[in-house]
Amino acid sequence: MLHPPLIVPSVLPADFSRLGEEVAELCEAGVDRIQWDVMDGVFVPNLTMGPDVIAASRPHSSVGFEAHLMVVEPDELLGRYVDAGCELVIVHAEATTHLHRTLARIRELGARSGVALNPATPASAVAHVLDETDLILAMTVNPGFGGQAYIPAVEAKVAELRAMIDASGLPIELEVDGGITDQTIAGAAGAGADVFISGSWLFGQPDGKAAAVRRLRDLAAQAHQQHHGEVA
Ligand code: DX5
Repeated sequence: MLHPPLIVPSVLPADFSRLGEEVAELCEAGVDRIQWDVMDGVFVPNLTMGPDVIAASRPHSSVGFEAHLMVVEPDELLGRYVDAGCELVIVHAEATTHLHRTLARIRELGARSGVALNPATPASAVAHVLDETDLILAMTVNPGFGGQAYIPAVEAKVAELRAMIDASGLPIELEVDGGITDQTIAGAAGAGADVFISGSWLFGQPDGKAAAVRRLRDLAAQAHQQHHGEVA
């Protein structure tokens, strides 16, 4: 079942010297939750924030946090991110040896679970864990950096995942992340995504973050209406 569009900023482009204020500004701009890109320098060629940075920003937010773990073998870290205030923890299928067990563990820790797929990873990689996941993330760039170009070829996989979710009858969210702008969001929404991560475009809009969030939400809702009819 397709959900109304959720607009979620990646904080990667934020001014890290004033993260608390940046988080508060995003909440005022009407975002639905906030994504923290956690990179370990191994799974992806970049290093970002640990759980303490997220925990320090938690009191400044009125919306939920999701942790996108771009790390190898995330099992040891799950509890740290839940304790830091992340109500949703996303692991990569390519980096997790026992995906079914890891997703179940995230739920045991009291958070919602999510599984992410790199652009080259087929939809079939999640076919046997639908019961264990609350969200599927189809990366629309190769993970590791913000500001990259959107990969339109991923839309075919998004449509496949949409069909898989609808056939399961489970309320799984379908998220896309990477290169989401006012020029690319309609393609992803039309293919069946309902959660949209935007970093550099959302932070870079001259009219401000609130106008950017409204624009992305309107474009996604229009594409849902056009391709999927009324969305409950
Ligand atoms: C990339 C991250 C994305 C990225 C999105 O590995 O997972 O969340 O920060 O940024 P933009 O919207 O600039 O592609």
